[in-house]
Amino acid sequence: MRLLEEKIISEGRVLSDQVLKVDSFLNHQIDPFLMKEIGKEFAARFANEGITKIVTIESSGIAPAVMAGLYLNVPVVFARKRKSLTLTDDLLTASVHSFTKKETNEISISKKYLDEADRVLIIDDFLANGQAALGLVEIVQQSGAMVLGIGIVIEKAFQQGSEKLKERGLRVESLARIASLANGQVQFINENVEELV
Ligand code: G4P
Repeated sequence: MRLLEEKIISEGRVLSDQVLKVDSFLNHQIDPFLMKEIGKEFAARFANEGITKIVTIESSGIAPAVMAGLYLNVPVVFARKRKSLTLTDDLLTASVHSFTKKETNEISISKKYLDEADRVLIIDDFLANGQAALGLVEIVQQSGAMVLGIGIVIEKAFQQGSEKLKERGLRVESLARIASLANGQVQFINENVEELV
């Protein structure tokens, strides 16, 4: 997605050859116009899948997921990473280990918001090793609902997440795919082959 790639180039900061900081539009401050375009793009890519619900994880997945929900006209449920005072109903849970943060979180969604009739699109901001996405897939499958696909804003294609999800037969749609962050440079995998003149 051209607009997103341009934003990453103009505002992203490469912190190391593994980590890209995008705090100015996705992870701290949020650019609502960009989120709207991201939501529109996810909705277009999954328009024919009969999606009934979007599932994401707090906190940075929520903005793009809500915009996709707006365009697909479906509700958005986010998995919580901490136990909530009011989230006391029967819970669907999964363990998610973050290699980046070296911690394991129990993530959860109330059974009330997912059931076997649901056709789910999972959305998240980053795809690195795929642990968060796999945890969300596990939770959706526990509910008996079907996962129709996974929409990712920024995929770090040099890590293993996308392969792990595709190995399980899941459709992954990433709006920006980063091939490398080496030497302080963001290099994209550009699937739209530009016409050479
Ligand atoms: P994984 O789920 O794909 O295995 O990712 P990992 O454990 O490596 O990532 C843990 C957290 O760090 C996730 O956010 C993920 O979105 C984020 N992350 C991973 N790589 C990058 C990166 O290069 N840049 C940025 N900005 N974030 C990255 P989180 O802890 O759930 O944070 P939040 O959603 O509450 O903001």
